[in-house]
Amino acid sequence: MGALRIAVFASGNGSNFQAIADAVQSGKLDVHIELLVCDKPAARVVERARNAGVDTFLFTPKEYPSREAYETEIIAELERRGVELIVLAGYMRIITSVLVEPYYGRMINIHPALLPSFPGVNGIGQALAYGVKLTGVTVHYVDGGMDSGPIIAQTAVEVQDGDTEQTLGERIHAAEQALLPSVIQLIAEGRVALDGRHVTIRQD
Ligand code: GRF
Repeated sequence: MGALRIAVFASGNGSNFQAIADAVQSGKLDVHIELLVCDKPAARVVERARNAGVDTFLFTPKEYPSREAYETEIIAELERRGVELIVLAGYMRIITSVLVEPYYGRMINIHPALLPSFPGVNGIGQALAYGVKLTGVTVHYVDGGMDSGPIIAQTAVEVQDGDTEQTLGERIHAAEQALLPSVIQLIAEGRVALDGRHVTIRQD
């Protein structure tokens, strides 16, 4: 059995993409990154993919009549490459049922808060504004809702007095970059089981 074939979807900086690529490079993560899918051809993550030798599927959403139209093209590319797991890592677009239905249970997302608190955009800023003492990061399966799918793993991050989006964001991003590759490795090892809303991880 070969390494699990994954595709990473991202729109911006790509620090999570980098963490995955670095973990593959150092042998900590036994997967093959088949493709970076990116809706912003000028994003930093595209350069990171090129540096890592990862193929890219770049598209400009407004050149398509609908979300379903570009997602149909993306699916054709994923199928052509035999992609087994989609990792959303800072992909800033709404996903439709065209992608969710065929990949349910095979598509995960990283979110910068402890879901179900603070879904949607700017989870870090939402947590700061609310005044919580504990926030964190969540990796979850993607369903048809906004950050609402079954939770696979979470890491807590304390909010400190005087934190700004910048300072809290640095600790959140560090937590993300540790958690996401480790969850992908657990999936690659076949240890992650999904049953309704509940996810169990076999540790032995
Ligand atoms: C991360 O905070 C992730 O949780 C959120 O988008 C951000 C992406 O950061 N979904 P990066 O592009 O991986 O640096």
